[in-house]
Amino acid sequence: MLQVARIRGGHVLRGSLRAAGSKNASLPLLAASLLTGETVTLRNVPDLSDVRYMAEILGHQGAIVTNPEPGVWTICASTITHRTPYDLVRKMRASVCLLGSLIGRLRHAEMAIPGGCVIGPRPIDLHLKGLEAMGCVVNVEAGLVQVDASRARGDTVFMGGPMGSTVLGTANIVMAATLTPGITRIECAAREPEVVDLCEMLIKMGALIRGHGTNVIEVEGVTTLHGCDHTVIADRIEAGTYLVAGAITGGDVTVTHCNPAHLTAFLDKLREAGVSVETGPDFIRAFGRPTHAVAIVTEPYPGFPTDLQAQFMALQLLVDGRSTVTEKIYPARFMHAAELQRMGAEIAIDGPTAAIYGDRPLSGAPVMASDLRASAALILAALIAKGETWVQRLYHLDRGYERFEERLRGLGADIERLPASELPKGFAED
Ligand code: EPU
Repeated sequence: MLQVARIRGGHVLRGSLRAAGSKNASLPLLAASLLTGETVTLRNVPDLSDVRYMAEILGHQGAIVTNPEPGVWTICASTITHRTPYDLVRKMRASVCLLGSLIGRLRHAEMAIPGGCVIGPRPIDLHLKGLEAMGCVVNVEAGLVQVDASRARGDTVFMGGPMGSTVLGTANIVMAATLTPGITRIECAAREPEVVDLCEMLIKMGALIRGHGTNVIEVEGVTTLHGCDHTVIADRIEAGTYLVAGAITGGDVTVTHCNPAHLTAFLDKLREAGVSVETGPDFIRAFGRPTHAVAIVTEPYPGFPTDLQAQFMALQLLVDGRSTVTEKIYPARFMHAAELQRMGAEIAIDGPTAAIYGDRPLSGAPVMASDLRASAALILAALIAKGETWVQRLYHLDRGYERFEERLRGLGADIERLPASELPKGFAED
């Protein structure tokens, strides 16, 4: 059943909440569980549609997957198939990270190539170039990529592309290299905390990896990996989203069980915007309203994350003057801007840069979520809009936020999830 969110703006958000486990760490970790025939137990896994879908794909590959209690998944991949058809890949682009684990485990893989998505083209050329540099034979035909790694050997692999490093591309090469003879040296490797978490779990499984967290990762191939028990890191993007929710309403929100070091660039910009920020070893508190226009530029980690750009834009709507967002990861990731304009925002897009002229009156409107982070941004803007906002296509939100409206309500927001049939007369239902 299609659902929508109805938000009534004007409430100040206060309180504290616990960060969920990271979606973008969980997906490659689930994929990595195929590298062993023994049982892998993952804890602190968020309850999200993307996670459930990845579990379904693992099941299709032949693994026995269970979810014995909330947040815990076990995967036992004693026998698996090397084929992943388009039907499974097309719904979730992140399924591409199965490639590395299938190659590592089975020495060959056949996977449908995922398409682009609304945030922009999402090629996998760097993944494939990296595999070729390791001596894999890669064949792309009829929408399928076939990889034969029977003669692969560790070598130097350069993972830099026009936008810098690639997160899932690095994850794929690391996973493939764990069970490939010789030393694979990945240059221009992604430094994202989610890649570090993957390497940490692989090390628990018996992999020999050094340099993760820097832009050169070295993996020394071993012959076999074993099971492990691993707790997923906190979701830095989810944490950042709730901190914006507090700040945008001039409230006071603390996110616990997270790692402030994973959000340095974002917190720096929050402070520059005039929001007060306090951090402890595992919590972040943001309070007070933004007062200054700021310019943000999205970059690979440790730069400002593209996955918090839309939410930060919602915050920039409050501030008098001209703020900017420059997208250096997905230059066309501005679908949310057009919807924010329907609420009264003044935003001008010029190539990869959006200029936000803030302090305009915002009013509730029916708006359409275009992707995961855009949906969060629209809800955040709705918190400060006059009247009712109806956010449609809520399934995007459910891909990456666990019980979002319930958690916002816990902080004092007036937000309800309703069946799409409740949309006021005249609003489109799709
Ligand atoms: N790129 C290439 N060639 C490649 C791979 C990437 O040109 O072979 C380009 C992309 O088109 C993009 C840039 O490099 O312009 C970075 O893409 P990257 O490969 O790093 O993205 P990803 O690994 O596919 C992950 C997250 C995304 C997040 C990006 C960037 C997961 C499951 N997804 O995607 O998360 O935006 O890194 O940080 O980890 C989200 O959670 O909303 C989301 C989209």
